[in-house]
Amino acid sequence: DQIRDLYQEVVFDHNRNPRNFRVMEDANRTIEGFNPLCGDRITLYVKIDGDGIIQDVSFQGSGCAISTASASLMTEIVRGMHESQAHALFQTFHRIATGKDETLNLEELGKLAVLAGVRAYPARVKCATLAWHSLEAAIENKQATVTTE
Ligand code: FES
Ligand code: FES
Repeated sequence: DQIRDLYQEVVFDHNRNPRNFRVMEDANRTIEGFNPLCGDRITLYVKIDGDGIIQDVSFQGSGCAISTASASLMTEIVRGMHESQAHALFQTFHRIATGKDETLNLEELGKLAVLAGVRAYPARVKCATLAWHSLEAAIENKQATVTTE
């Protein structure tokens, strides 16, 4: 169907050509995200300025196609946002990814199509949420290893 097609297209594109896939030397938050189910890891780098604006965000690591695509999309979406906006988006993402919000339609999802795919393939939710949980830890200013639940 339409959602699955969009999902597959987005995951393919972002996995083959991940955006912001680089180390950030001057990051002020660095988070290790770990998915214990498969052993995949990402490192998320975030630079948040004194006004709470996410100036830069990037990642490295080896994950599956879905975790890489989700991280890539996330870095594109949250750059330039205030950390409170990014936090609100995390909560929306999380509600959708865990099936608690069925109200968003395809247009509203837009680039968050990975979420639509997560609903189509619920077994992959931990892959798709790894980067977002890492971002949330960065916003909370934890220097931590984040494990998807
Ligand atoms: Fe490891 Fe997806 S299989 S993060
Ligand atoms: Fe977010 Fe489990 S996927 S707490």
